Amino acid sequence: MRSRIAILASGGGSNLQSILEHLERLGDVRCGDVALVASDRMNAGALDRAARRHVPTVVLATDKAPDRTPLADALETHAIDLVVLAGYLRLVPPDVIRKYAGRVINIHPALLPAFGGPGMYGQRVHRAVIESGARVSGVTAHFVDEVYDRGRIIAQWPVPVFPSDDAGTLAARVLRVEHLVYPRVVDAVAGGRMTLSNSATAGSEMLVDTRPSFTLLPHEDSRLAENIELALGC
Ligand code: GRF
Repeated sequence: MRSRIAILASGGGSNLQSILEHLERLGDVRCGDVALVASDRMNAGALDRAARRHVPTVVLATDKAPDRTPLADALETHAIDLVVLAGYLRLVPPDVIRKYAGRVINIHPALLPAFGGPGMYGQRVHRAVIESGARVSGVTAHFVDEVYDRGRIIAQWPVPVFPSDDAGTLAARVLRVEHLVYPRVVDAVAGGRMTLSNSATAGSEMLVDTRPSFTLLPHEDSRLAENIELALGC
């Protein structure tokens, strides 16, 4: 049975779009369907993108009671199995984290655990990366717990930082990679190919990755060396 996915987005929703398109391309072998798009902002572009594809949408009211939030209600109404944050700026309330332990994921536009945490979103992340002098940034898909950007890492992919970059050019390069990585992670988690082991202590769970493993063959190794030489120009 396919997972029913809720996407939570505060912004334009380009990640939402890439997930919708990827699942559509997978067709019958996809492991989930986007059954709800929720936003804390009524003018979020993500809501328009969802409506154009006839995906149900909801604008979330501000949380009043910490033990029963509008988000928890919406997830229950739509019988959601997996919660996918895609540019969602609010902290996921504790009632949802408790009920959906190991079933909430996020994409972060840098290589966690660096450049994450409270206040690290949007262009601020990319500005911090550039100011640090790092030559590599990237994307991180991770499980979500009650602390910003702390949950167990599912997948990462590097993106080079060039000397000519500003926050805008770096953000655009990273976003292109988000659109490739995140939909694939969403389908893998929806299909149970990547899960979290149970643990009583938040943050100490391990990633259980049941995809077939592979070994780099010697000829691939030399190709990797060639690619590194090309990329670094040395
Ligand atoms: C992405 O960079 C994502 O990593 C971050 O917020 C941005 C959302 O972009 N969490 P979009 O709304 O999906 O276009």
